[in-house]
Amino acid sequence: MPQRTFSIIKPDAVRSGLAGTILSEIAKAGFGIVAIKKQTISKHEAEGFYAVHRSKPFFGSLTDFMSSGPLILMVLEKENAIADLRKLMGATDPAKAAEGTIRKKFATSIEHNAIHGSDAEETAAYEIGYWFAGYELL
Ligand code: CMP
Repeated sequence: MPQRTFSIIKPDAVRSGLAGTILSEIAKAGFGIVAIKKQTISKHEAEGFYAVHRSKPFFGSLTDFMSSGPLILMVLEKENAIADLRKLMGATDPAKAAEGTIRKKFATSIEHNAIHGSDAEETAAYEIGYWFAGYELL
């Protein structure tokens, strides 16, 4: 059974012209694109998306960054999509990410880390529903 996950190519990567390269890596890894859109999100939308991190010291800076310019919102599909995307992305901190991963190659800091991917089935369902309406996911 294919599984769906949610991903964002973050504003740092879009600003650096890396969106196409990252999309190509995702496609080469066998993910299908269920839905995709380029959008500039508001600070308020970023705060809602990252609500679980509200108490963290980096919350203000993270939500400023995520609303600082266009990003690419995506729903991706494949067998084992959630775990496989996280493997392809690498560790949150690019300094700790494995060779060959997207964050190792393209991220510049723990905050400006190029890509987001859901960490569990429940999170994926919440995150997909936060950004996409049912009719966009047919
Ligand atoms: P992401 O996978 O989108 O989930 C939460 C984000 O918070 C994370 O990627 C990073 O961009 C950011 N983040 C996590 N830890 C830190 C930290 N210690 N300092 C700054 N930003 C962080």
